[in-house]
Amino acid sequence: MKLAAATPAVHAHLRHVDSGRVSAAVREHRVQAVLDGVPMVMVQGGVVAAWAVFLGGGWGLATTLLVANAVAGFDWFGRVAGMVVTEAPGTRAWQKETSRFAGGVDLMDLPPGVDLVSGAAPEPPQVERIPLETLSLRNFSALHDDGTIGVQGVDLTVQRGELVLLVGQVGSGKSSMLAALAGLIEHTGDVLWNGTPVADAQVFLRPGQVAHVAQVPRVLSGSFADNVRLGHERRFDVPVAAARLGPDIAEAGGKDALVGHRGVRLSGGQVQRLALARALATDAELILADDVSSALDATTENELWAALRERGATVIGATAKRAALAQADRVVVLVDGEVAAIGPWRELGVRWGHLAG
Ligand SMILES: Nc1ncnc2c1ncn2[C@@H]1O[C@H](COP(=O)(O)OP(=O)(O)O)[C@@H](O)[C@H]1O
Ligand SMILES: [Mg+2]
Repeated sequence: MKLAAATPAVHAHLRHVDSGRVSAAVREHRVQAVLDGVPMVMVQGGVVAAWAVFLGGGWGLATTLLVANAVAGFDWFGRVAGMVVTEAPGTRAWQKETSRFAGGVDLMDLPPGVDLVSGAAPEPPQVERIPLETLSLRNFSALHDDGTIGVQGVDLTVQRGELVLLVGQVGSGKSSMLAALAGLIEHTGDVLWNGTPVADAQVFLRPGQVAHVAQVPRVLSGSFADNVRLGHERRFDVPVAAARLGPDIAEAGGKDALVGHRGVRLSGGQVQRLALARALATDAELILADDVSSALDATTENELWAALRERGATVIGATAKRAALAQADRVVVLVDGEVAAIGPWRELGVRWGHLAG
């Protein structure tokens, strides 16, 4: 707002919107006062009139008491009617707007098995795990929520056990491609798993099948073990060792040591390696590792790729380290969201060496 020198205009707009709100509130209170006041005055008037008739000798004591009490009872009907008139439109508008926010569904109508109080929900549908033989991308593009194309027109086939590394400048589309392969953002084109098109990427390309290590991973506030296992029966020591996180955990006091609120006690490198251990613990068919170079020194990164290779894991990763690229079966060079070259680094290094450090 300041950059656009729009502060006075925005203030004026907010004042205008706010004055509308104030006058609506004043109007509501007036109507409420009338609806509260009029029935009360009428009822009290009725009671006075009943006693006046008594004093004038028209009714006996019993009749007068009966009539006065009955009339006083109508006070309640008046109030309720007033509330219906004043509150109902607001309630209706509120319901309409909230249901519009929720995409038009009935908010009171919960899906079966969901309990908002206890937090219970049915298990997600189990996706059958299909061992990966080949992963093929045809005219594959990754789309962000706002429509930005992260990477486009990728044709790539990855065989089981291969190590494929993406390299490119910042913004060339490495993270976008890996996120789309993990079903985290939309894609167009085809993803073929053993030659069969993946119908629903969000359901199919998820842990168990595919594990993704984000460039800036999220860490839970619990212990190291919580973060690696995520509540499942999963191994801890093996993935932690493979991710080169063992010494850090020992120093912090073991696997039950807490990592602080969302991992504040961890360094950026430790967060990345923790996320990597979490991904390895899933024993996924395909591991997508974004920018692990920022977390590991060159030697450790090399050891990591070698360890993954030994385990026969299929890995697509992003790196900026020459030594790592040299170990890859194939390197994919990305330039401005498109594939510029694919091949072993010994062939590509001469032309694209400037992209790696
Ligand atoms: N969350 C996002 N929303 C919209 N556009 C994005 C988002 N993340 C990245 N992009 C865009 O996608 C393109 C590729 O970025 P990215 O995949 O992060 O590249 P790299 O990982 O190679 O640095 C860039 O133009 C970037 O601005
Ligand atoms: Mg990135």
